[in-house]
Amino acid sequence: MSQRTLVLLKPDTVRRGLVGNVLSRFEAKGLSIVAMDLRRIDAALADEHYAEHVQRDFYPPLREFVTSGPMIAAVLEGDEAVEVVRALNGATDGRKAAPGTIRGDLSLSNRENLVHGSDSVESAEREIKIWFPDL
Ligand code: RTP
Ligand code: MG
Repeated sequence: MSQRTLVLLKPDTVRRGLVGNVLSRFEAKGLSIVAMDLRRIDAALADEHYAEHVQRDFYPPLREFVTSGPMIAAVLEGDEAVEVVRALNGATDGRKAAPGTIRGDLSLSNRENLVHGSDSVESAEREIKIWFPDL
């Protein structure tokens, strides 16, 4: 079933010049880019996006990180896009993520882990409204 999901290429992806590498993996898999924008967010938008994590101990440095520079925000579409993107991204901690995944191949960090993908169809709908309200 075709789905839409929100993908963020976090500031480390942009800083390290890995936008093309990461995007090409999603494209090669067969996902379509429905919307895409280079954007730097403020703390308020970070809090809205990560609402479920705002009270957690790890959140303040995460907020610092995601507001530290521009990100690529994109809506990707395709068959089971939510799960497919999560599989391509790999486990949250880049040190433990499987080789072949974006994080497994390119990240050595639990925070600077390059990408975000919505974790459910409901999260995708919520996040797409935040990032691309006109879609
Ligand atoms: P994301 O939301 O960024 O796509 O990552 P995810 O679903 O794989 O992981 P999630 O549980 O949603 O966590 C969001 C981000 O918070 C950081 N994190 N740190 N225990 C910790 O120190 C911890 N747990 C999570 C990670 O940077 C993760 O990407
Ligand atoms: Mg998450």
